[in-house]
Amino acid sequence: MNSNILVIGGTGKTGRRVVQQLQKKGIEPRIGSRNASPSFDWDNKDTWVNALNGIEKMYVTYYPDLAVPGAKEAIESLTYLAKELGVKKIVLLSGKGEVEAEACETIVKDSGVDYTIVRASWFNQNWSESFFLESILSGEVALPMSEVLIPFVDANDIAEVAATVLLDDTYNGETIEVTGPELITFKDIVHTISKTSKRRLKFHDITLQQYIDGMKEMQTPDDVVWLIEYLFSHVLTNPKNQQVVHDIDRVLGRKAKTFLEYAQETAKTGIWNPISVE
Ligand SMILES: NC(=O)c1ccc[n+]([C@@H]2O[C@H](COP(=O)([O-])OP(=O)(O)OC[C@H]3O[C@@H](n4cnc5c(N)ncnc54)[C@H](OP(=O)(O)O)[C@@H]3O)[C@@H](O)[C@H]2O)c1
Repeated sequence: MNSNILVIGGTGKTGRRVVQQLQKKGIEPRIGSRNASPSFDWDNKDTWVNALNGIEKMYVTYYPDLAVPGAKEAIESLTYLAKELGVKKIVLLSGKGEVEAEACETIVKDSGVDYTIVRASWFNQNWSESFFLESILSGEVALPMSEVLIPFVDANDIAEVAATVLLDDTYNGETIEVTGPELITFKDIVHTISKTSKRRLKFHDITLQQYIDGMKEMQTPDDVVWLIEYLFSHVLTNPKNQQVVHDIDRVLGRKAKTFLEYAQETAKTGIWNPISVE
């Protein structure tokens, strides 16, 4: 059944899984992405009206991150437009301990539209579908802050929570904090991926400055370098982020997935196999 639910970022790490969760319940949401029809492009407001037309509820993931300059203005414009077009509920994916993300949450909370905020810690899938994958494939992982404790959370758990609160209005007005069930370090993670993928991965503990210099040497775009530096220096080190919260258990009635469970499943897909050079 075609529905009046829009999933912005519906082909991304969490959005794709939210779409699958809804489909399991027989609901076919509209996908918000540049390649969807109608298309939705954060950088082209002319696309927004068609994408939101007839929509009652929406899951919003901002790309690339709510911390980047311009995100707050985009969330503000989208929220006002949504209200004007009759959207009844917004579920916003936010980041734990990010001042900029909290400013975006406030826009949604104050909009007068029903909402649920899903505030997430760092995703497991950053190691298999995002910026940490390349270093795993290279066999050498060099990262700063190797001992910082992080409650990495699984994108499948985030998506199941997001789909639940989209459909269940008893969560309206709530901020759900989604974290994994344990605090782990980068060193633990590399060790776990090494064991589950049966690969010899080397971990190098480096300074943040060395990490940034390395990205610049590899000609990583300036805005990406800025974002990663910001995430390490402001988000990772924020004590608020170094806590396990049990909201996943509360909403889903089961335990959140451990990093080991994620790594065992992911290793089976072959995504961490070394790239063979012909
Ligand atoms: N990664 C983490 O550890 C973490 C932790 C906490 C919070 N967050 C938050 O998570 C959000 C990202 O969510 P996610 O990881 O689920 O998504 P994602 O995988 O980063 O996003 C990819 C999605 O965004 C779409 N997209 C890319 N550029 C776009 C554009 N210009 N206009 C419209 N759509 C565009 C892509 O579709 P097309 O390419 O087809 O357009 C795709 O559907 C961020 O706001 C971040 O703050 C992330």
